Amino acid sequence: MDLFKNPRGNRRNPLLWIVIIGALVLYTQYEGSLFGDPDDPRVSQAMLTGGDIGGPFALIDHTGQAVTDADYLGKHMLVYFGYSWCPDVCPIDLLVVGEVMSRIENAEAKLQPLFITLDPARDTVEKLAGYVPNFHDSLIGLTGPPAATEDAAKRYRVYHRSAKKDEADTEYLVDHSSILYLMGPDGKFLTHFMPKLGPDKIVRDIERYL
Ligand code: NI
Repeated sequence: MDLFKNPRGNRRNPLLWIVIIGALVLYTQYEGSLFGDPDDPRVSQAMLTGGDIGGPFALIDHTGQAVTDADYLGKHMLVYFGYSWCPDVCPIDLLVVGEVMSRIENAEAKLQPLFITLDPARDTVEKLAGYVPNFHDSLIGLTGPPAATEDAAKRYRVYHRSAKKDEADTEYLVDHSSILYLMGPDGKFLTHFMPKLGPDKIVRDIERYL
């Protein structure tokens, strides 16, 4: 599967790769095919047409720096919302993001991939610092106070629902839509992709905008 032909070989964390491979197996079993089935109701719920998606955010990156959307102006942004505990969808989608970055020539000069957490309670700066480099060196993880990540998710109209049972529950899942947003160098929404389409199609589509 060419998903794994990543010349950068970000394979620093063998445990993560075990999780990813397990997730791939589950995903293909339950979904039928890795990049098929775009008819996820959560996706269609968030099928977006307007230009009012995205906007300002003020968060903290995985190095501990306070950042805002303005810090990324001048480059296209490829924005994905998820959480590092996600057992299946997020790791697969972030592999696609890593592949996309590896396949576009000089991608890092033109395109900034961002992973914004939907689970700031567990996705601390330290947790994200250990997570995002597994997918691509250029991937930036963003967290922050819950009100700030929630505001960002709202602006991007991201569906998400935590299954946290009570305060003591630390192993909860978060159901969420999985959409990649392409924003222009001016920060405005251009288009969105379903990561399930796979890196080939997404690269072709992104290159039309770069
Ligand atoms: Ni996820």
